[in-house]
Amino acid sequence: MKLIQFFTIVLCLCHQSPIAFTCTQNDDPCGDFQPFYEMALKGHVFQTLKVPSSLYCLEACKHEARCQSFNHFMGKDICELNNRTKEARPEDFISDVTKLYLKKPKNRVALGSIPELPAASCEEIKMSEGQVVTSKKYWMICINQDMAVLAYCNMTTEVPLINFTTKGYTGRYGIIQRFIVPKTGVYLIKAWGARGGTHSTNYGDYPGTYYGGRGAMKQGTFSLNVETVLNIVVGQRGGDSVEVKGGQSTNLRAAQLGLSVEDNAGTGGGGGSFVYTTNDELLLAAGGGGGASNGYNGVEGQAGTSGTSSVGNDSSAIYGGGTGGQPGQCNNNPETADYHGGVGAGWLGEGCARVGPEHGERGGSRAQNWVGRRAGGMNSGYNGGPPPGAVGGFGGGGGGSEDNGASGGGGGYSGGGSGLWDSQAGGGGGSYCSGSSCLGITGGNMNDHGFVEIFEL
Ligand SMILES: *[C@@H]1O[C@H](CO)[C@@H](O)[C@H](O)[C@H]1NC(C)=O
Ligand SMILES: *[C@@H]1O[C@H](CO)[C@@H](O)[C@H](O)[C@H]1NC(C)=O
Ligand SMILES: *[C@@H]1O[C@H](CO)[C@@H](O)[C@H](O)[C@H]1NC(C)=O
Ligand SMILES: *[C@@H]1O[C@H](CO)[C@@H](O)[C@H](O)[C@H]1NC(C)=O
Repeated sequence: MKLIQFFTIVLCLCHQSPIAFTCTQNDDPCGDFQPFYEMALKGHVFQTLKVPSSLYCLEACKHEARCQSFNHFMGKDICELNNRTKEARPEDFISDVTKLYLKKPKNRVALGSIPELPAASCEEIKMSEGQVVTSKKYWMICINQDMAVLAYCNMTTEVPLINFTTKGYTGRYGIIQRFIVPKTGVYLIKAWGARGGTHSTNYGDYPGTYYGGRGAMKQGTFSLNVETVLNIVVGQRGGDSVEVKGGQSTNLRAAQLGLSVEDNAGTGGGGGSFVYTTNDELLLAAGGGGGASNGYNGVEGQAGTSGTSSVGNDSSAIYGGGTGGQPGQCNNNPETADYHGGVGAGWLGEGCARVGPEHGERGGSRAQNWVGRRAGGMNSGYNGGPPPGAVGGFGGGGGGSEDNGASGGGGGYSGGGSGLWDSQAGGGGGSYCSGSSCLGITGGNMNDHGFVEIFEL
């Protein structure tokens, strides 16, 4: 298979030995080596090459200073060299089943550091190069002129007017906060969704620690009139699995009893973060991540509007994420819905009710004041604790099932999916932006809980 072949060739190139498996790690001579299959960066191709074999894409990129990343047509030996990375232009990083995306793994030139690679803005350099950028002169694209110019970028982080956090709340319940626009003008609003719950067990088929998906980041600019009142919902992290191995009624943690958590207990989905007017006009939403399960990490909150499906080995147990503001797909057919998790809520509503108390409960939507929902009975903090257990996070997260069951989906503009049975992690919620200059990053929140920053422009 071509895909495997590509991988092997690259491994050989990095280590001059075909058995160098460590190339998938970031701390080795291959540098920042992480291929994204069925993904591509669109709109930044400065050269398309027909090459004898896929190995040459990496070589071609290596010898071209402007090359920041490339798209490789899988099975076709064609490469597209990009003059941007997906970090610089997250909105242009799209799924494409015919291609594979790879950032230049070594010796990539920083955006704006040479005249051949001018940046469009200081903000773009920050996005491209991350936290390490310093305030100095950079090469910038000069409008109306056929050349790049050096311009000073002030990289000192702008201080937000206000930074909304969970205010110390955790779990299912939180508060809807308010922002009153102080004066008519343009505001930049950035929102981050919350992470799903963690599952950690030391026995069974897949002992180990599995992490909830990270929440998405979504931002945009908005023209707002003085005294407009905005509702601010800050997503809270989904609950971890807590049910004690073998089952017993206790508020103590499994670890305090010297026991493991049940191998197949579910976890809660993370809550989404939302900004909307008191007339329910949605400005911004950032999806929460899905809860982890035995063997699978939860899915990240998505930059796009749709939630993702749950993930697991058993395809018949997978349920889809919501689209167009809807919650995750219904999973409560009483004939088949054994040990289902709770789906993430969407902007327009919550999913279907659980079949019984052992299952995870659907996350609550706007009409339910965004409350996250309960976990399956034995995973609710009374068979291992402390309460509330594997609940969905405030912001529409779905709860995790008890032992043998699936984890909850993340809340968001569209809710994350949640499937059936064990080893089924929750899907990530979708995001939304009705403003200008919108952009988003899938899994862009490095914190557990969500937050919302508002800047005056
Ligand atoms: C990057 O590539 C795009 C797409 O081909 C092109 O329009 C743009 O001018 C290039 N920018 C630089 C700085 O080379
Ligand atoms: C850079 O921006 C910060 C925050 O906006 C400001 O306080 C500072 O004075 C600026 N520095 C320069 C050199 O312009
Ligand atoms: C806003 O709050 C979050 C959560 O506490 C924090 O991670 C973030 O850095 C804060 N933003 C600023 C600009 O301080
Ligand atoms: C998935 O299924 C394969 C084939 O049955 C099995 O080998 C693998 O261990 C399973 N993984 C998980 C995490 O369930």
